[in-house]
Amino acid sequence: MAATDANANHSSPTSRILRPRRSNLAVPGSSTKMIDKAKGLPADQVFLDIEDAVAPLAKPDARKNIVAALNEGGWGDKIRTVRVNDWTTQWTYTDVVTVVEGAGQNLDAIMLPKVQSAEQVVALDLMLTQIEKSLGFEVGRIGIEAQIENAKGLLAVDAIAQASPRVETIIFGPADFMASINMKSLVVGEQPPGYDVGDAYHHILMSILMAARAHDKQAIDGPYLQIRDVDGFRRVAGRSAALGLDGKWVLHPGQIDAANEVFSPRQEDYDHAENILDAYEWYTSEAGGKRGAAMLGDEMIDEASRKMALVVAGKGRAAGMQRTNRWEPPSE
Ligand code: GLV
Ligand code: MG
Repeated sequence: MAATDANANHSSPTSRILRPRRSNLAVPGSSTKMIDKAKGLPADQVFLDIEDAVAPLAKPDARKNIVAALNEGGWGDKIRTVRVNDWTTQWTYTDVVTVVEGAGQNLDAIMLPKVQSAEQVVALDLMLTQIEKSLGFEVGRIGIEAQIENAKGLLAVDAIAQASPRVETIIFGPADFMASINMKSLVVGEQPPGYDVGDAYHHILMSILMAARAHDKQAIDGPYLQIRDVDGFRRVAGRSAALGLDGKWVLHPGQIDAANEVFSPRQEDYDHAENILDAYEWYTSEAGGKRGAAMLGDEMIDEASRKMALVVAGKGRAAGMQRTNRWEPPSE
């Protein structure tokens, strides 16, 4: 089921400009100290939490802290997201109304946890539309980030990804997910010693990635809880990046550089991608002999190489990378 009337004024999903989200810093809305500190950290995105990192009694204050911090500014060009409580609680509507009425102009997206169906996304879309209309905000600007954290959510991930043009990301929530399917593991995102469950993560991550790619969304990996184990973080993040996911949560400032690095192309891969694009453009041109397949050094390149190169070059450009060498057409 897709939201229809409510989305009449929305831009189409493919026209939503999705900024890089290599690192997404989790910040409990209950801690003004951590919120202040987050402003100066080099994460691509920050999400201010009213859900699981905030105790029930602290949620009302967290909402107020978040509204104040968003309106106060100082976030640079970070994507500013707020994670509300999921629709099975009694808190979701108050979270959304308080935060969007209070700071909707200074907010980029709402993260909806434990999404189980397309309808849950549509419900949030409708609420956002009402608030935007009533306050005279641009309708459809605020995005939705959908967390997949249980079996129902994973089974419905394709419908969830296309439930609203507001959806920007599909996020894996490994802690809740493992609990919900009874996965026997000690460290979130890694297999417990003696058990080979690596394939289980592969299936989950690939399902999320396929839904995201099919509908032009970003696919984001969730937290790595052993915050002092930066090597472990790199290992798990590296697996997600290798599959093609766009970024990962960071729970601690110490994980930010690793995430930004792992989800950016390596310099040599970025240079190579830009060179493939230049070389292929030249070889297919009149001057280059109108060739559909050509040699770049020892490598055969064709239209499929160009498509792969576009992905890597796109990620590098988005991350602000500069070329360190440049292919030149043969001189005679
Ligand atoms: C994140 O929300 C998780 O449950 O891992
Ligand atoms: Mg969770």
